Amino acid sequence: MPERISVAILGSTGSVGAQALDLIARFPDRFQVTALASGSRHEAFIEQVKRFRPRVAALAREDLLAPLKAACEPLGIEALVGEEGLLRVATHPDADRVVSAIVGAAGLGPTLAALQARKTVALANKESLVIAGELMLREAERNNALLLPVDSEHSALHQCLRGERREEVRRLILTASGGPFRQSSLEEMEAALPEQALRHPTWEMGPKITIDSATLMNKGLEIIEAHWLFGMESARIQVLLHPQSLVHSMVEMRDGSVICQMGTADMRGPILYALTYPDRWESPFPRLDLAATPPLEFLNPDLRRFPCLELARGALEIGGTAPAALNAANEVAVGGFLQGRARFLDIPRTIEKVLEEHQPAPADSLTNILHADETARRRAEQILMKGVAA
Ligand SMILES: NC(=O)c1ccc[n+]([C@@H]2O[C@H](COP(=O)([O-])OP(=O)(O)OC[C@H]3O[C@@H](n4cnc5c(N)ncnc54)[C@H](OP(=O)(O)O)[C@@H]3O)[C@@H](O)[C@H]2O)c1
Repeated sequence: MPERISVAILGSTGSVGAQALDLIARFPDRFQVTALASGSRHEAFIEQVKRFRPRVAALAREDLLAPLKAACEPLGIEALVGEEGLLRVATHPDADRVVSAIVGAAGLGPTLAALQARKTVALANKESLVIAGELMLREAERNNALLLPVDSEHSALHQCLRGERREEVRRLILTASGGPFRQSSLEEMEAALPEQALRHPTWEMGPKITIDSATLMNKGLEIIEAHWLFGMESARIQVLLHPQSLVHSMVEMRDGSVICQMGTADMRGPILYALTYPDRWESPFPRLDLAATPPLEFLNPDLRRFPCLELARGALEIGGTAPAALNAANEVAVGGFLQGRARFLDIPRTIEKVLEEHQPAPADSLTNILHADETARRRAEQILMKGVAA
């Protein structure tokens, strides 16, 4: 491990990106920020750039070059926009670790580029692994790049599996808070408004993953993520609701032992783990007070009210480009719901229709994956425009 760890962040203005910066700021002698990239919130981004003084700052939106340059040039910081800028941040030669925290399929290109540049990637952007798991693993292996999970569940599994032999693992158990509609009826879910779905009981996150948590698609995407990260087939990845969000996931061994990882519901824990692995640093954050925790509950999810879970599992079992189609349809349907163009339960309905029509191809090339992504997006938009019941 270098004396001072240089970090590049993709998606620094987001929930994970801002928490990574908050964490980095608490270790000024041990971390430095080499490069930052975000999408379009340029005012917040420029504030971060002024505070953390990276070498390179990039925004995805091309028309924001002028204000970005105006802020960066007096500080001697290189300002870039568009795809080129994101790739530059992802592959900066000085970065030891790249935090991949762009939301959605937009994170795939830069994350893949970081692996090709032999970086250790702290992966929050689960969508890239969902749509291109095979490619990402191939690139990681070929380039001897390390992929470390930031998602709290996968960070937990990674920790539970340290030192264990894979053939002795019986199954992985992903925990889920259950989201705001855990106890709602189907009728209530049908009428759910974005502001209700955005009220997550235990985690504060960006809007897309918060809606994914309300539909349980987030857990579906995490099944696919766990499949790729830990080489486990779908049948051996179980999901349990755990409303307290203190056990972040578990591993059942073949001798019946269940190993769990616990911690507060604070993403800075798994981010710290991914930025310092294989070391463990002293955490500056509040610790779990076990004597003060509420009773821990574990429940089976109701698949009738949360069909997204099985839609994701089904896509993983079909394989090829099916998960890319699932993810694209979900991104479009969630966007539609947040914009008031779709009802809450139109999200699973749209995904189901897109998947029914999808012709899966092998997901071993970017061409096939991007084609599946674009086709599914277009079809999901058509379905939303016509009305899902049509
Ligand atoms: N939030 C959590 O606690 C959490 C936990 C586990 C996993 N994750 C995963 O982490 C990822 C990020 O989640 P989040 O909650 O942090 O999302 P978020 O708050 O919505 O932030 C998303 C970030 O991505 C940037 N972005 C969006 N589109 C972009 C594009 N086309 N090009 C470049 N940058 C773009 C945004 O930039 P602008 O806002 O400047 O446009 C922002 O910095 C997701 O994949 C999510 O599933 C999040």
